[in-house]
Amino acid sequence: MQMRFLFFTFIYSSCAQQLLFPNDFKFGVATSSYQIEGGWNASGKGENIWDHMTHNNPKSIQDKSNGDIACDSYHLWKTDVQLLKNLGVHFYRFSLSWSRLLPNGLNNRINYDGVHYYNNLIDELLKYNIEPVVTLYHWDLPQGIQNIGGWPNIATADYFMDYAKVAFDLFGDRVKTWITFNEPIEICVSGYGGGDKAPRIIYPGISDYLCGKTILIAHAKVYHLYNNYYRAKQRGKIGITIDTAWNEPNDNTTLSKEASELSLQMQFGWWAHPIFSKNGDYPNVMKERIANISKLQNFKTSRLPNLINHEINYIKGTADFVGVNHYSTVLTSYQPLPKTIPVSFYNDLCVKSEVDPKWKPSAATWVKDVPWGLRKLLNWIKNEYSNPVTYVTENGYPDLGELNDVGRINYLQGYLKELLLAVVVDKCNVAAYTVWSLLDNMEWAEGYKLKFGLYNVNFSDPTRKRTAKSSVEFYKNIIKSRMIPF
Ligand code: NOJ
Repeated sequence: MQMRFLFFTFIYSSCAQQLLFPNDFKFGVATSSYQIEGGWNASGKGENIWDHMTHNNPKSIQDKSNGDIACDSYHLWKTDVQLLKNLGVHFYRFSLSWSRLLPNGLNNRINYDGVHYYNNLIDELLKYNIEPVVTLYHWDLPQGIQNIGGWPNIATADYFMDYAKVAFDLFGDRVKTWITFNEPIEICVSGYGGGDKAPRIIYPGISDYLCGKTILIAHAKVYHLYNNYYRAKQRGKIGITIDTAWNEPNDNTTLSKEASELSLQMQFGWWAHPIFSKNGDYPNVMKERIANISKLQNFKTSRLPNLINHEINYIKGTADFVGVNHYSTVLTSYQPLPKTIPVSFYNDLCVKSEVDPKWKPSAATWVKDVPWGLRKLLNWIKNEYSNPVTYVTENGYPDLGELNDVGRINYLQGYLKELLLAVVVDKCNVAAYTVWSLLDNMEWAEGYKLKFGLYNVNFSDPTRKRTAKSSVEFYKNIIKSRMIPF
């Protein structure tokens, strides 16, 4: 059986150039508000946690930069739409800046300049037949909401729902694909668990899990809101975007296989299991693991906040699709727990992750060019959650800004080929693919050094001139032909 599978995979792989992406498969590119917009305090926009952190603690960003101007898309949205039109993408994934719409985060004051900005952008996209795919939350929490505790405070779920309602009322007549959250693990573990993302409030192993519970409840509230009050009229879809590297067992041992599975469950399953699995709730291995380690640390209860039955049922099934952000692969193996275990998510996870020195590097340590990892991940999702409708909402390659970006072209070619095999051969239910990113932009705590864009942005030029890299032609041809060139 195994041999037959390998044989067919080989045949398909070697003629993958003749395979086509299905006619209704969609291609797009993505950005996010803080990373590209700039206009940080333009016409009534409120401060968000990234404005606050970069202004008050410039050292939190490697090159001491910030997103005050970034790509200046706040002024250059028309230019951006022309770039999208040139690419021939079917959709553009961007995010709304919550504090541009609701300056203090609350729904008692709408900033109409912000409404105008997004109306313009959406209308311009539709003029060229480019579908707007809108992320409600891509990491830029209004500072006002952070001041009362941010995501670890369960009340934030209600403020998020109020904000989502404003967004549905204002834009839902034209926006038909909504993503509630981008990469919840980054929001929680990097933002509240000791990582390098705003607000960098650090109470690892505690506030990251509280944040996680709020996000799951907030996501479900917004799904139910849409489902009960908007869906019939607006006829859109709503989902969530979750990220993970593929975790390949480092060897054939049961221990390494278990470590890989644990890693996928604690990073991807933390969010996907409550929403997409048959029984809901956090993954069992995650619950057991954190409960056991909490006990070893003398906690009387698990540090992972319980989901009670009512919450489990409320969260279960609340998505029309799963968004997947995927960039790379790691080799995972078992790591024994240390004698004393510091309290943090990564110590709860406690697996060993390595990379194969033969894998092609990129400008970021965490991105290696390992295309087969995408196919394995998509198959894992298919098997784990009964083949849900899946959109690859991000995939991309960081370099240092070469205009002739062969590294990016090779990377995209490899990943797109594996995606094609996952769709056509493995029948993974993937309906869309998104390159991160349209533009070089503000790469969070790493500043402007790492470049992910198909278009270069000249950040020393006040006009923020955009220039096409070689990958533009490459991606354009794939979109047009639905085929991967070899
Ligand atoms: C994930 C995030 O969604 C995006 O904001 C970030 O720039 C890219 N990955 C690259 O790190």
